[in-house]
Amino acid sequence: MTEPNWHVVGAIDDVSREDVIGVTVGESQLAIVRTSDDRFFAVDGLCTHGRASLAEGFVDGTEIECPKHNGRFDVTTGEAVASPARVALRTHPCRVNDGCIQVQL
Ligand code: FES
Repeated sequence: MTEPNWHVVGAIDDVSREDVIGVTVGESQLAIVRTSDDRFFAVDGLCTHGRASLAEGFVDGTEIECPKHNGRFDVTTGEAVASPARVALRTHPCRVNDGCIQVQL
């Protein structure tokens, strides 16, 4: 059973290493990123620059590159690290429990 506010969003095998999937929890569109060093992070699913879907983006190490204008964000902090992205993404607590990816909202 999941604790309050923690939502199962998939299985770890649903996301390849250095890749991303899009999920929807309630009204929230999220991008779940698996980094090159095999950690999982949850960030808002829409780019802060032009609202492109980051689920269609590219993961490089611990950064995700937006598919529209190639802005980049560090998924460990949400910080925008390459223009034209300037505003940080919101991050959400994310953990792996018994092979499942869970996000706290
Ligand atoms: Fe993402 Fe412009 S929409 S960088």
